[in-house]
Amino acid sequence: MSEIAKLEALEILDSRGNPTLAVTATLANGVTATAKVPSGASTGKREAVELRDGDKSRYGGKGVLKAKGYVEGEIQSAVRGFDANDQKGLDKRLCELDGTPNKGRLGANAILGVSLAVAHVSAKDRGLPLYAALVEKPANLLPTPGLNVLNGGKHADSNVDFQEFMISPVGAPSFSEGLRSAAETFHALKAVLSKKGYGTSVGDEGGFAPQLKSNEEPIELILEAIQKAGYKPGKDIVIMIDPAASEFFDDGAYVFAKSDKSRKTPTEIIALWKSWLKKYPEIWSLEDGIAEDDHDGWQAITKELGGQIQLVGDDNFVTNPAIFSQGIKDGIANAILIKLNQIGTVTETLDCIQMARDNGYGAVISHRSGETDDTSIADLAVAAGMGQIKTGSACRGERIAKYNRLLEIERELGSKARYAGASMYERWKKAVKA
Ligand code: PGA
Ligand code: ZN
Repeated sequence: MSEIAKLEALEILDSRGNPTLAVTATLANGVTATAKVPSGASTGKREAVELRDGDKSRYGGKGVLKAKGYVEGEIQSAVRGFDANDQKGLDKRLCELDGTPNKGRLGANAILGVSLAVAHVSAKDRGLPLYAALVEKPANLLPTPGLNVLNGGKHADSNVDFQEFMISPVGAPSFSEGLRSAAETFHALKAVLSKKGYGTSVGDEGGFAPQLKSNEEPIELILEAIQKAGYKPGKDIVIMIDPAASEFFDDGAYVFAKSDKSRKTPTEIIALWKSWLKKYPEIWSLEDGIAEDDHDGWQAITKELGGQIQLVGDDNFVTNPAIFSQGIKDGIANAILIKLNQIGTVTETLDCIQMARDNGYGAVISHRSGETDDTSIADLAVAAGMGQIKTGSACRGERIAKYNRLLEIERELGSKARYAGASMYERWKKAVKA
């Protein structure tokens, strides 16, 4: 029987040394599986609530013993005997049990831990890999990764305001070859930085975090590294950026507090992105180039640039089907970032992905800046079949674990495996020409 028999939670540490939850689900037949919950730093305001103890005597208040208590108490009582193969039913029950619109009572960390552990145990019980168990149709598309090789903003102690500078190996014939070219470029970037006398220590997502002369210099350095590694910028490897603009939006203006202290109006920041796209045609994707609170700015940038490049909404959509649906109606962005813990259940996450597909939006499956060795998002990216993942640099074990899992999936799929490669990128390039 695939009945849920037991839920256990453990307070573990994430990649920043902060507490998070590992949840283990056991079925009546003894099959067992564990999922570990990630945690963000540059969070959207409307994300589901991450429940923290607030007891300053433990982990500065960041403990998750209350969430652990809910998993092993209330939630376990409510789902014991439930069919683990009914993910939708389970997730609905979890949401109802919580009873708030933002999972604020039991915590999205407690709820996601359970939802994801059950997805794993159900897959295992059915003898399926997670990527095949999550969806009904065959899943064989390996995503093109975006590797965040230069970290700034809230993820690094540097003078760069923008959070993520990613390289994406669109020209490779397979996921493994793409990962190789990206890793080689990561090493070339280290050499480029060293030669210029810049630091090569890394930020939260494994990208380098040097003190630089401007917010633009990362692009120049990355272009140099791509070439140094023997690849062609714009053909083999393209650039994706996530400035995470909500983090530097203050009182209606974009304030570059870490670099030159300048302020930009919404019109000016759109002009800045436009000038970058002109100067660097290698950039094909811009995530959170506008702050979550700047609704008009989002509409304006979508009108102006939505036909040219991928505009990904992260902080504004928070993987929430209701919020995303309104955003689509409002003509905001043309892609969504997908983070399981922003919403807190597997079902709602899959709903967002489906909504993106139905509306011609892209979907980028994503890690959080605080991660564990959990690799669920690698499987989710293949299950989603949307062709994109971002899960950090070619550095730090918790990032590499996801890329390594994708290598395993690629091997397992054998001749059935397809690599998304440039397919998404080509779509936008065509739009530019039209
Ligand atoms: P976070 O950042 O995990 O710190 O929220 C990731 C992102 O903004 O994409
Ligand atoms: Zn983001």
